Amino acid sequence: MLKPLATVDHMLLRPEGKGTIRALSRIGYELPAAIADIIDNSIDAQATRVEITFLRNDREITSVTIADDGRGMDMATLRMGMQFAGRTDHDVGDLGTYGMGLKSASFSQAKTMTVISRQNGNVVASRWSVEAIDNDWRCEVLDPVQAGVTFNDLCLRGKTPASGTLVIWERLDRLVVSQHADALDEFLGTAMPRLEAHLGLIFHRFLESGALSISTVVRHERRPLALPRPVRPHNPFLYPNSGAPGWPKALSCEFPGLGSLTLDAHIWPAGSAADGFLLGSRKGIEFQGFYFFRNNRLIQAGGWNGAVKGNQDPELMLARVAIELPPAGIDVNVQKSALQVTASQAQALLAASDSEIDLEDYLEAARAAYRASRRTERSSGSPPAVPGPGIAMRVRRAARKWIAGNREAEEIGFAWGELDDGQVFDLDLSEMNIVLNRKFRYEILDGSPASSADAPLIKILLFQLYKESFARQRSSGKLRDHVNLTNSLLFEIIKIRLKDRDE
Ligand SMILES: Nc1ncnc2c1ncn2[C@@H]1O[C@H](COP(=O)(O)OP(=O)(O)O)[C@@H](O)[C@H]1O
Ligand SMILES: [Mg+2]
Repeated sequence: MLKPLATVDHMLLRPEGKGTIRALSRIGYELPAAIADIIDNSIDAQATRVEITFLRNDREITSVTIADDGRGMDMATLRMGMQFAGRTDHDVGDLGTYGMGLKSASFSQAKTMTVISRQNGNVVASRWSVEAIDNDWRCEVLDPVQAGVTFNDLCLRGKTPASGTLVIWERLDRLVVSQHADALDEFLGTAMPRLEAHLGLIFHRFLESGALSISTVVRHERRPLALPRPVRPHNPFLYPNSGAPGWPKALSCEFPGLGSLTLDAHIWPAGSAADGFLLGSRKGIEFQGFYFFRNNRLIQAGGWNGAVKGNQDPELMLARVAIELPPAGIDVNVQKSALQVTASQAQALLAASDSEIDLEDYLEAARAAYRASRRTERSSGSPPAVPGPGIAMRVRRAARKWIAGNREAEEIGFAWGELDDGQVFDLDLSEMNIVLNRKFRYEILDGSPASSADAPLIKILLFQLYKESFARQRSSGKLRDHVNLTNSLLFEIIKIRLKDRDE
């Protein structure tokens, strides 16, 4: 023990300078998690409807609004809500915790956040900007009459609620896309499905029970008519039949610091293409692991929290464990996307058991179910591989006809991704992708324009070279050596092109 040191004076040190808000905006929220945190507040306010609107012009997203028909706020509540760590006196059933979500989620995406809220016919409104926080932490109170007009205009259009809240994000520094004409459409084309998949997963219990509906819409400034799309629930445990007889089973564990927890250990049927299994991914491998729920909101979607090595073991792809957390007493990261588990807590999870089996036995059963499915697949002759996304549609159609006829086929996709410096390509056996190094895109294309189906010759040749390895689904030393050698040869060419470019 250290000897106690005596206090002789105090210095009152409030946060100062521009670091505070910059640090806050770098907590690491992705757009879907940031919006989910705003929706948590709507749920806490008993909302039944939430509408997320992306307002755009030809080049950029000018604002994002999140509207709900919850109980709304009066000025005192709004004041506390705008304050950082302002409100911490939550009911046990609430999703809010630190009194930070509204602010930290908003500033992870935007430089200005406006909140307009209506309660008992009264409108209150307030605005934070990063500059104001940098300067002197002065939060603006806005004209209620003007705010009321904006509220009627933007909040759940066509059916403005009697009470409700509208959160507006502007100056969206994280959603900037490049200037070329299709960049924004391309961005929205991937961002919107990702957002819907994420919200459908995180809030699936609320959506399934009908307690809440969420919709998203992208609205062009000059074309105000746009159809909202409902977010559908994605239940990660909704399979028709168990993947192994006798499962799911309930195991229990003494979780240090929390008390006893029940682990509902499930084994999915192999080869499922259900939404709930794939959850927006190609094969669902990254969605194995623990699913922690708190007050029906999903806090963590898969991952083993250190209880099992790695999070993407192909043999464990059928294993998912649902765990209900008590309302309080456990550390969740600020984004509410993962549980912070200590080493002794991870050990406790691993030791979870019922009278007969423990978590290790469960993992073994999940592995066995996976292996059995691979055996049947092999004995029935695994489906032939055909080129998938990343190759022009007419080539894919021709290839499918020639390679697979009318049999089932498995697609191998192509993607530009981050690879090590000397690597021109790599095989992602679990996600069924051939990945090309984005850093060398220019050199690989050698003057041709980039597009979603570019570099067709190299893609098709790599496909022909490695399609059998994808069917075997196993990476051997021999395969590694072959991939390395091919990479070295290709890299020699890339080096020449890099040199030409420099000259
Ligand atoms: N959509 C909303 N409807 C009603 N009240 C809200 C809404 N959003 C935020 N608030 C109020 O602002 C407070 C602060 O929100 P937040 O920063 O997310 O922290 P927390 O949710 O942990 O309290 C909430 O507790 C609530 O009182
Ligand atoms: Mg909150």
